[in-house]
Amino acid sequence: MKNTITLLIPLMLMAVAANTSATQPSEVYNYYCAQCHGSDGKGNGPNVTKDFATDPRDFSKVEDMQKLSDDDIRNVILNGGASVSKSSLMPAWSGTLSDEEVDGLVGVLRCISQSKAKL
Ligand code: HEC
Repeated sequence: MKNTITLLIPLMLMAVAANTSATQPSEVYNYYCAQCHGSDGKGNGPNVTKDFATDPRDFSKVEDMQKLSDDDIRNVILNGGASVSKSSLMPAWSGTLSDEEVDGLVGVLRCISQSKAKL
């Protein structure tokens, strides 16, 4: 089961990436997010040391990710953890990423967690 998931995630990321013409969402994820959230989204990227006060969200935890709507995810990416009373270790990306790139990232995170948006 674990092996199947490990194989499926890159395939799904590629499927998401194939939909856009600009920078691929999976590339945006790998560039800006993977150092903390991990290339497999489990929150264990190379930036995360034991001094990290808050663990980055593990995007593979379906039950946690289902609590967030697409708008919640968009909002925390754009405005950072502190804007939603979460850890300021989660940076704000509104000055860096376009709305299109953020929408792409929502898709990447949904793929990792295989969760649907909260209704
Ligand atoms: C410097 C490390 C770091 C980077 C880089 C980073 N994050 Fe985070 N992120 C965190 C931490 C730490 C949390 C946990 C915040 C908390 O639970 O208080 C988090 C939480 C989140 C959450 C969950 C918020 C919630 O309401 O539970 C989302 C979604 C998220 N990050 C998306 C992203 C995306 C997308 C990127 C890339 C554009 C990114 N993060 C880059 C550290 C990081």
